[in-house]
Amino acid sequence: MMATSASVRAIAYASIANLGHGLDVFGVCVDAGFDQVEIGPGDAGIVLTLTGEAAAGIPSDPDRNTAGRALQALMRHHDIMAPIRVNIRKGLAPGSGLGSSATSAAAAVVAANEYFGLNLTREQCVPFAAEGERAAAGTAHADNVAASIFGGFTIVLAGTPMRIVHLPAPEALRFVVATPRLQVETSRARAALPEQVTLLEYVRGCASCAMIVAALASGDIAALGEAIEGSFVDEHRSTLIPGFASVRDAARQAGSAGVCVSGAGPTVAAVVGPDANAEVVARAMKNAFNDADLECNSRLVSVGEGARIVEER
Ligand code: HSE
Repeated sequence: MMATSASVRAIAYASIANLGHGLDVFGVCVDAGFDQVEIGPGDAGIVLTLTGEAAAGIPSDPDRNTAGRALQALMRHHDIMAPIRVNIRKGLAPGSGLGSSATSAAAAVVAANEYFGLNLTREQCVPFAAEGERAAAGTAHADNVAASIFGGFTIVLAGTPMRIVHLPAPEALRFVVATPRLQVETSRARAALPEQVTLLEYVRGCASCAMIVAALASGDIAALGEAIEGSFVDEHRSTLIPGFASVRDAARQAGSAGVCVSGAGPTVAAVVGPDANAEVVARAMKNAFNDADLECNSRLVSVGEGARIVEER
């Protein structure tokens, strides 16, 4: 297959995965930063280069890079042998819980879809981008990549074919994300989870997930905040995030509707409704992390748009 352009550049935004009980199912795209991927003709195979403020330490070996793995899966599936060079401009730091590995894979697949003229739908792009997660986490979960590709709020039903439901998130929905200076590898955060849950946890999880979807559909930010809390996922992962309980309590006291671990952590996400003072919430969360001897960057983010082509030559 021949390329249809000389080069294509795509961007994809960050995401908050899980929202508590919705492990590997829910994702919300947020404007907390983005990665850019440019694809052009190469000399042999897939050659990756990395640039950008967050590129340090990210492997350029395609087998070990999320964008590289996603491109390999896409090209193998479509019998594409054409050599390409790929530049990943990393804007999102890895290991923070905001879907950094997924943004590179999402942008890469969206760029390749255009570059090779494949005409894949967004839903068809997701499984290839999810293959990238194998490089980062060992499993091809798709919650982050789906949110980054579609924007807004996404629900993933894993399987063959994978099904994605995309819902626009309420305009009033905002999060304060507090990112402590601490790296938590997704594989370690997944290893912290139990292999099995009790019937009680299962029932509670089903109810919470249903409440989350209902709250998003009706725009009830207070109900959303309530529904994202208390998951077994956060209970186990909070052991990897010093100060989590104080950060959560501080956010609530400062006016947040509810708090969860963002993705695999260590970022903590607090839902803020239109009446809450986000600056006060952000300061409270930062101070609570500081009290746990962790430097922290906290900021307000809104729901982000899906991955898109920004340049084609
Ligand atoms: N759903 C994934 C997890 C997101 O929580 O492990 C992080 O890749």
